[in-house]
Amino acid sequence: MYISVLRRAVFGVTQNNNTAVQKMTWNAYGLRLIDFVWLVLSVSFFAALWGHKIAKRLPSKYQTCCLNVLFQDLVRYGKTKQNFKRNDWLRAFDVPKRWFWHFYATSLVWNGLLLAFSLNVALRQHLYPKWLSGLINVFSGSSQAEQQDPHVSTVLLQLLLLSHSLRRLAECLCVSVFSDGVIHLLQYVFGLAYYLLLGFTALCSDRQTKASGPLLSQLEWCHVAGIALFIPASLLQHQSMVLLAGLRIGKSGRVETLTHRMPKGGCFELVSCPHYLAELLIYVSLSLVAGSLSLTWWLVVLYVLFNQALAALLCHEHYIDKYPSYPARRKAFIPFVM
Ligand SMILES: NC(=O)c1ccc[n+]([C@@H]2O[C@H](COP(=O)([O-])OP(=O)(O)OC[C@H]3O[C@@H](n4cnc5c(N)ncnc54)[C@H](OP(=O)(O)O)[C@@H]3O)[C@@H](O)[C@H]2O)c1
Repeated sequence: MYISVLRRAVFGVTQNNNTAVQKMTWNAYGLRLIDFVWLVLSVSFFAALWGHKIAKRLPSKYQTCCLNVLFQDLVRYGKTKQNFKRNDWLRAFDVPKRWFWHFYATSLVWNGLLLAFSLNVALRQHLYPKWLSGLINVFSGSSQAEQQDPHVSTVLLQLLLLSHSLRRLAECLCVSVFSDGVIHLLQYVFGLAYYLLLGFTALCSDRQTKASGPLLSQLEWCHVAGIALFIPASLLQHQSMVLLAGLRIGKSGRVETLTHRMPKGGCFELVSCPHYLAELLIYVSLSLVAGSLSLTWWLVVLYVLFNQALAALLCHEHYIDKYPSYPARRKAFIPFVM
């Protein structure tokens, strides 16, 4: 009895006697485990964003202290890491930034697999494999019976994640020109885990409406609005990637330099990192596709907002330090705002 009271207090476990369905929510606020994970990630990057802002204002003796160097090593990557003084032992954890394609290849395989499972459930009335069904149950609290009817939002989310990963993989392999920039080993491992979690989140999202009828009959305005935003946001990101690659490719079509130049053209006239802005818009579009009122996906958007805001701020500061003629009206991340 004591154990059952304890479980109820810590996990908010409730028992529905009719269906014997166990809902596992995280604490008294009713947050599901998947929501709690994204909340922790969002708060961590929000703290990192402010940690960096505060660290910049510290006297120089504190800026070189071990803790700050370690912190900066974990939040910086690529060009923003280049001029940052680090001890040699920290360089032992560097891995090449050109390995970014590993993230999208992982995401492509994983999301392809999850999409195949969902289609199998939706079209052929099969069940999710036991290990996956168990994981969904732990993270979202939905029983196997509830998982039997995949929502059109889930399948659309998976399709969009798949197409996003495919485009990014193609850009990494065929468009972008990488220098010898590095990322921390932990950032690399986090990146791989991130894309596994993201694909899994599509299966765990909270739903406002129950799936009923064939997939196509479940389509609503939010799905159309989400796709309508996803396409221009993806085009913006692609255009930004092409413009960045163009800074290193000469008229002959050959790579002429691996240095970092001042970006020009397109939305780079408005912000230093239009590709990060596009990333945020892509996740907003996914949130619309998830049903527009999914707490889970708005927490994912919050995480992307803080994560990309931090990366954009570091990049913007790097450009301002490097180019004395850097346009003053250009913002870091969101035009005319920040
Ligand atoms: N959802 C997430 O959590 C998340 C996290 C991180 C990134 N992303 C997304 O992944 C994409 C790539 O991000 P990223 O941080 O790698 O972008 P990035 O640092 O701007 O790099 C993109 C490409 O452009 C090159 N480049 C960057 N600045 C340049 C300059 N001034 N001159 C010439 N070439 C330059 C880079 O080469 P080098 O860096 O090799 O020199 C790389 O090949 C973005 O769209 C971002 O939104 C998403």
